[in-house]
Amino acid sequence: MTEETKRDLASRRGVETSVYQPAEDSQLLATAVERAGRGRFLEVGTGSGWVAAQATDVDAVTSVVATDVNPHACRTARERALSGGGPGEASGPAFDVVRADLLSPFVDGAFDTVAFNPPYLPTDPDNEWDDWMERALSGGESGRELIEPFLDTVGRALADDGVALLLVSSLTGYDEVLDYAASCGFDHDVVVEESYPFETLSVLALTDAADG
Ligand SMILES: C[S@@+](CC[C@H](N)C(=O)[O-])C[C@H]1O[C@@H](n2cnc3c(N)ncnc32)[C@H](O)[C@@H]1O
Repeated sequence: MTEETKRDLASRRGVETSVYQPAEDSQLLATAVERAGRGRFLEVGTGSGWVAAQATDVDAVTSVVATDVNPHACRTARERALSGGGPGEASGPAFDVVRADLLSPFVDGAFDTVAFNPPYLPTDPDNEWDDWMERALSGGESGRELIEPFLDTVGRALADDGVALLLVSSLTGYDEVLDYAASCGFDHDVVVEESYPFETLSVLALTDAADG
């Protein structure tokens, strides 16, 4: 992918500043959360916090935590969580925000649902951006450099019968992601899928294959 194409995608995805703004992929993940989210919910890589805020309106979801590695994203999400709280300061934020690398701070079995819209654009190492936009968009040379560690570790943070909702782009290598998920012990269903001029986006529901 050329630098110019990446800039086009970045602008189409609303990454004008240091925080990823809600775009069609965010909307698709929120639709999947509405259909398949439940119980204690974590959004990894929340960006502006928009998907996490949508999750607070899902009846089957009982609590919401959002993380991001980007401190600017955490601040923006926290502001959204505070503005989405009930009337009066005593009601507190609508969801909690934690600055974290993937799932590292959380104990085993902490969540019933974990959702992730990862940085996934395959990026030539010579064209990597050294900024927060890169961290929001680039999945490294393969496009899967964040997806694979997520798949390696998400099972630990999921409760029994938990589900991971992972957004996958055709640009990233759909079959490669499915193969990697299977090697980590997951079965998959497609919760929602949409095609766009550049790519097809799918949200997979990943569950422990041993339960199937
Ligand atoms: C494609 S954006 C998605 C933002 C938001 N979830 C949405 O759908 O609008 C990916 C997000 O993952 C965050 N991120 C990148 N690497 C991360 C990591 N190691 N741990 C947590 N978040 C990370 C980025 O900062 C960015 O906010």
